[in-house]
Amino acid sequence: MATQDDLFQPVIELPEPIRAERYRRLVGLTDTKVRLRKEATLLADPDRLRRWANKHHGAEIAATALFADRAPLFVFAGDVGCGKSALAESFGCDLADELDLPAFLYRLKLATRGSGLVGEMTSLIGDAFGHLLVQGKKSKNSRGINAVSILVVDEADALVQSRAAQQMHHEDRAGVDAFLAGVDSLAGAGVPVLVVLCTNRVGALDPAVMRRAAATFTFSRPDDEQRRAVLGNALHDIDLAPATIRQLVALTGPTDNRPGYTYSDLTQRLIPAAIMRAFPDDPLTDEILLAVARQLAPSPIFQEAT
Ligand SMILES: Nc1ncnc2c1ncn2[C@@H]1O[C@H](COP(=O)(O)OP(=O)(O)OP(=O)(O)O)[C@@H](O)[C@H]1O
Ligand SMILES: [Mg+2]
Repeated sequence: MATQDDLFQPVIELPEPIRAERYRRLVGLTDTKVRLRKEATLLADPDRLRRWANKHHGAEIAATALFADRAPLFVFAGDVGCGKSALAESFGCDLADELDLPAFLYRLKLATRGSGLVGEMTSLIGDAFGHLLVQGKKSKNSRGINAVSILVVDEADALVQSRAAQQMHHEDRAGVDAFLAGVDSLAGAGVPVLVVLCTNRVGALDPAVMRRAAATFTFSRPDDEQRRAVLGNALHDIDLAPATIRQLVALTGPTDNRPGYTYSDLTQRLIPAAIMRAFPDDPLTDEILLAVARQLAPSPIFQEAT
């Protein structure tokens, strides 16, 4: 059986200050954050749903039973650089605070795809889910609630692309089957394990995977207000003219010829490029920021192959 280190990148216990801060700084994702918190909390502590039914309906209601067998699977879909990975790897901090219990972040190694030996991928994926089930049963808090494990599969299209794809290797098809079996083994198991698939090719995911998703969240590029928030957060402690942020917001928006900037175009390209231009002899100025924004082209929109 594969060990934890074979299957996952180092497991991270949340909350953890860097990720908690990253979670707080994510802009434009409030609805997604709220929904994830509710879903994950109810999974970890199903008694809250009973209490809700009793409070608002005076008794338990049949409809809540539908929750018990649902697969705890979420799909984070959408454009590049818009927070899929960042949210997947940080929302456990919020959840841990909400539940007053640590959450464990497991990130599947892409190497779990195996080396193509028949049966290898299938058993690796089986082992990964088996591992999560065992770990998930272990840590309880004083109220008898289990710590939540979060399994993140980033670039999930590589793992669970549609089995209908013509060129798909037999071994990869078996991997999708193993993943589906793993997700099904979690539904109704009473162990709080959440699975998050991140992809910018949601159309390529296997339909049986999509059908099991409790929710699919679509991430998109920031609008004016959201770009203003990101730029404001990043630049709040340097002395800029108020008009500069306004101009930066305008310069980084969509035009007839190109899309607007992604979140990561702002945080990982625009501002670092401006700092590089200033460093080492000059301060970061309005002029430098505006000049870089005029020159930099936003990331192209990710087009799904049809
Ligand atoms: N909603 C957001 N608010 C603030 N910053 C963001 C947001 N989304 C992304 N960023 C910034 O962009 C960086 C990259 O984001 P992330 O890696 O989550 O993108 P992604 O959606 O996973 O993209 P890809 O599809 O290319 O993997 C983050 O570390 C953060 O600095
Ligand atoms: Mg990503």
